[in-house]
Amino acid sequence: MESSSNQAEFDYLFKMLMIGDSGVGKSSLLLSFTSDTFEDLSPTIGVDFKVKFVNIGGKKLKLAIWDTAGQERFRTLTSSYYRGAQGIIMVYDVTRRETFTNLSEIWAKEIDLYSTNQDCIKMLVGNKVDKESNRVVTKKEGINFARESGCLFIECSAKTRVNVQQCFEELVLKILDTPSLLAEGSRGVKTNIFKEKPPQSDAATKSFDPVSTAEKKASVSTSQRISEALELLEKGRELQAQGDFNQALYCFTQVIEKYKDFAFSDYARVGRALALYEVGDKEEAIVELEDVSISLKGYPEVHAALAAALYEDKHAPLLAENQFTIAVLLDPHYSDLSYVKETKHWPPSLISSLRNFITLS
Ligand code: GTP
Repeated sequence: MESSSNQAEFDYLFKMLMIGDSGVGKSSLLLSFTSDTFEDLSPTIGVDFKVKFVNIGGKKLKLAIWDTAGQERFRTLTSSYYRGAQGIIMVYDVTRRETFTNLSEIWAKEIDLYSTNQDCIKMLVGNKVDKESNRVVTKKEGINFARESGCLFIECSAKTRVNVQQCFEELVLKILDTPSLLAEGSRGVKTNIFKEKPPQSDAATKSFDPVSTAEKKASVSTSQRISEALELLEKGRELQAQGDFNQALYCFTQVIEKYKDFAFSDYARVGRALALYEVGDKEEAIVELEDVSISLKGYPEVHAALAAALYEDKHAPLLAENQFTIAVLLDPHYSDLSYVKETKHWPPSLISSLRNFITLS
């Protein structure tokens, strides 16, 4: 599998979802796959996603991989993210039996309840095989469960990266091999290289897809909109990382105005608030942060940004302290200024507010 260099063009966009108990290694697998590194990660808050461009099976693919939180308290936040997924990766930890039993107790039931693609491909992943001496779930048990549940199966280690690429590659190959999952909505928005594989007529797809034409059209248009919204959100984040907060503000605002029906547009609201703080109205930025801290409950970045702004601009040290305590409880990295600067790409004005708060409070 190669990483695709030309990110503007792709044949298909696939939405993939990672589920499983807290601590089984979902975020680590995703990080290992998307950035070739392994770090000790803090628990995922709600939902996050990463995008990777790859060439698999002769196709240029854009993979939007959603990493959900395994913790019970975030369950309601994640249910809507099953919608439209072509692939679902169910992860357990081979050294913790309860993470394996919870697959049938909790996770398979969630898929039945929420998944909208009945042909969606499922991949069962036994992670942490590097800890062989602590293993309590045998490979045979994994294979049997996968067979009973109609899943693909692989064992891997996010730490040593054994089988990580294969896991995603096999899943993608199977999706590519399933015509009903290659509906128009998953196609790339900027290229049209399907001449060798013309769109299937309703008659041709009937045997795969029991959904009515009207429903299918609606789903196609939703997938298309998701793809456009994700692209704008990514662009905004890219511009933010480059320090172009005016353009970033424009992209984030577009997402909010055109795609506010998608739950993930809240991430654009966070980006917009940060950019506004640098190049726009600070009051408005603070109101936006306060507002989005309610809808994106438990997202540490919002609490940390609010703390900095409340301290510096509202002279409200107690409120700031409260917000910062929440942020650091959720993710201890937020007390490290260089981490926030380098990985969150906050604007200089907000970094300076956070610095004042951390050093003077
Ligand atoms: P939630 O975000 O709470 O749902 O957890 P998660 O499933 O995303 O787990 P995460 O990736 O945060 O990993 C949990 C812990 O397991 C971290 O300390 C990782 O470093 C560790 N870990 C993840 N994968 C592996 C692995 O393959 N081998 C070993 N030895 N440790 C791993």
